[in-house]
Amino acid sequence: TARYAVFGQPIAHSQSPHIHAAFARQEGIALDYRAIEAAPADFPAALEAFAADGGVGANVTAPLKEIAFGLCKTFTSRAMLAQSVNTLLRKGDGWHGDTTDGVGLVRDLTDRHSLDLRGRRVLLLGAGGSARSVAPALLDAGIRELVVVNRTPERADELSDAIGEPGRVLTQYWDRMDELGDFELIVNATSAGRDRNEEFKLPLSLVNSLTTAVDLNYGEASFAFLAWARAAQCRNIVDGLGMLVEQAATSFQQWHEVRPETGPVYDELRANYV
Ligand code: ATR
Repeated sequence: TARYAVFGQPIAHSQSPHIHAAFARQEGIALDYRAIEAAPADFPAALEAFAADGGVGANVTAPLKEIAFGLCKTFTSRAMLAQSVNTLLRKGDGWHGDTTDGVGLVRDLTDRHSLDLRGRRVLLLGAGGSARSVAPALLDAGIRELVVVNRTPERADELSDAIGEPGRVLTQYWDRMDELGDFELIVNATSAGRDRNEEFKLPLSLVNSLTTAVDLNYGEASFAFLAWARAAQCRNIVDGLGMLVEQAATSFQQWHEVRPETGPVYDELRANYV
């Protein structure tokens, strides 16, 4: 049978095998989807062994997304922009890479949370792999302006240059965020605050009466940013659990050519992450 897997390190707590199994049951598809732990140095060989053993599709999570990009023969254009992939599809004798995180985020915000992103000003915190994956999808969703702010400003400029839409994508220094005005959407794509005791401090001037704050993480890793968002009285406060399920659905769709319903799995997972 065709084999699927998620690669990462650590991988034991990955929800992906569970999510894909639920989708497969729903669609009546027999599925062999496992979690495979691989250190960055071992990942290329592990992925080759997986292909030799009948592996036809894989998800890739931290810290392997950029390495996976380097192992692909072909890519989608959004993966090219992100220089990172979370979805691999075997094509002939090579891997085809895609990144479904960005569309996953947009679907969660627009479908699950009923937000209309068109014409909105969006603040993107971070310029690492996660930020690069979601930026193009936000622009495709019709936002008016994307301001990228990163602790290391050069990386924000690199991201903006890679997108190549100087009229719509701006950058600013982290310590000058108070000059930016307010935003309808603030996206935390940094790894800051993943430690529970860390505090997230951002100017309150970023928030208006419509502001949605979204963290790409879920569980404890999202607590610090979302605590700030609550204190700042953001209108909607969203963690990355919905994005997790939606990016999985997009991967599933590419492999099995059917889009699963995400509501039931989301509700089930949500019960564990209040
Ligand atoms: P990921 O794949 O999660 O995006 P990454 O590529 O290592 O991981 O990127 C981490 C992001 O979090 C970067 O934008 C990083 O900022 P730098 O480019 O300046 O390193 C950001 N980050 C990490 N710790 C941070 C902190 N304490 N404050 C602000 N930004 C932080």
